[in-house]
Amino acid sequence: MEIIKDINGIREKINEARKAGKRIGFVPTMGYLHQGHLSLVEIAKKETDYQVMSIFVNKMQFNDKNDYKNYPREYERDFAMAEKAGVDLMFTPDDEIMYINPLTYVDMDSLTEHLCGAHREGHFRGVFTVVSKLFNIVQPDVSVFGQKDIQQAIGIEKMVFDLNFPVKIIIAPIMREKEGLAMSSRNKHLSEEQIADALYIYKSLQKAEVMIESGETESGKITFAMRKKIQQGKPDRIDYVSVVDYKTLQPVRKIGEKNVIAVAAYFGTTRLIDNMIVEKKEKGYLCTY
Ligand code: PAF
Repeated sequence: MEIIKDINGIREKINEARKAGKRIGFVPTMGYLHQGHLSLVEIAKKETDYQVMSIFVNKMQFNDKNDYKNYPREYERDFAMAEKAGVDLMFTPDDEIMYINPLTYVDMDSLTEHLCGAHREGHFRGVFTVVSKLFNIVQPDVSVFGQKDIQQAIGIEKMVFDLNFPVKIIIAPIMREKEGLAMSSRNKHLSEEQIADALYIYKSLQKAEVMIESGETESGKITFAMRKKIQQGKPDRIDYVSVVDYKTLQPVRKIGEKNVIAVAAYFGTTRLIDNMIVEKKEKGYLCTY
């Protein structure tokens, strides 16, 4: 695996791969890799021949200075994991390379009004701006994002559509720890006790699934029961428990054709998110989480 910091170097390598007839897969990350990231590479490998990963802790998307400062960074460990997973080229730019007095940003309207968009000011502008830049630098054929950050993934699909990026976006299933906690680089900040408490987020999704399977469709009733379940884990704060339409990410009063049920809660100072996609099928609903 080659590790390159500068944009011209990356472009040269990718041009070479393209000239050799290879299709380019791309997994952008902020590092501190876990099995979830590696599963994105696995999926990219199924559709492409040359795997590019980026590690860039993107200051622009952090609304909380401490979260940025404390974001775990362990590059050597990440490089070893990425290489083992089959990444061919690693892009590790720094702030000075990515942002030279920028005056241009990618923003999105209604899709970022609710869920994390309502609680993390400027976050999605930072995400969409950096992902646009990375797409322009790497010019991948396929790029894979995790369902865990569902608002980000759906937003990137919409951005690619709106701005005509020639890239196929794949949304990959959530990877979970044994007991069910969604994998996240931020889990590193949790104590043993907080990990046990945070499991109530997963349990709240299970609760929602049971309710939906037994015919409940009212968002209010589902989110009320979920909140009660999460409270059992003594979160320091619940940002939201919300049922939204899959396409618009606007809140809905009743479960419909395709929805997202999403949660964000703090355990200590660590903010965790999780979600479930609910799709109407011929008989009942399919819940994917
Ligand atoms: O999901 C992430 O890790 C980040 O938001 C991303 C997509 C790499 C952009 O910085």
